Amino acid sequence: PIVTIHGSADEGAVAAALELADLVEAKPDAVLGLATGGTMVGVYAAFVREARARSLDVSRVRTFNLDEYLGLAVDDAKRFRHFMELHLFGPLSIPSEHAHFPDAERAQTDAVGAARDYESAIEAAGGIDLQLLGIGRNGHIAFNEPGSSPDSRTRVIELHGATRADAAPSFGGLAGTPERAITMGMGTILEARALRVLAFGEAKAPVVERMLHGEEDPETPCTFLRGRHGDLAVHLDRDAARLLH
Ligand code: F6R
Repeated sequence: PIVTIHGSADEGAVAAALELADLVEAKPDAVLGLATGGTMVGVYAAFVREARARSLDVSRVRTFNLDEYLGLAVDDAKRFRHFMELHLFGPLSIPSEHAHFPDAERAQTDAVGAARDYESAIEAAGGIDLQLLGIGRNGHIAFNEPGSSPDSRTRVIELHGATRADAAPSFGGLAGTPERAITMGMGTILEARALRVLAFGEAKAPVVERMLHGEEDPETPCTFLRGRHGDLAVHLDRDAARLLH
């Protein structure tokens, strides 16, 4: 992988955003794989600025988000679709019919059908050109929690205790935090033509070290990225890179 250690998280976010803008400029109907979470906020802010500065036409871009919680009301502000509307789709007026998410409602009663249809939709779009990825402190990629296989496909999973604990503050405590999600699998993600992993802050340093130097280990799914993809770039800040040697 190409690993870049940026002077700040902002710089790392801008670097990823500029690559996204270049991609959309070169390929206006690009298929973008998107992630949510704190790491991505700066990326989308920078992409919105850049898209406006270049007057980029985003009307033909199609997007596929990695994952969605199960059990939240459609209008719940914690839905990942809401996050994306707020940070990216709204500011750039990306048509909602171009923005795909795994179907969390259907997944409650028909997990297999919801998963299969999401995989089919990605395939019908021609596959993902560039996939943005964050990393959980437990090494998850999307919601491929510890125990996930490198061949895993889109599916419903039980969220790991650490993932729920990290999310709990935004749900007003653990009791209100979702227990399940539907996520692209590691195998699905590895089929994207380019992978861009971002990790900022000291809390990510141990898992970044394992991702870049550790053996493959299903207990730390991010370790499956390094040896299995030919176009993998990693953007870090100094804090996240602190344990690299
Ligand atoms: C989000 C996702 C997660 C996050 C990861 C890091 O769609 O799939 O894997 O990328 O949990 O989250 P933050 O950026 O909040 O540290």
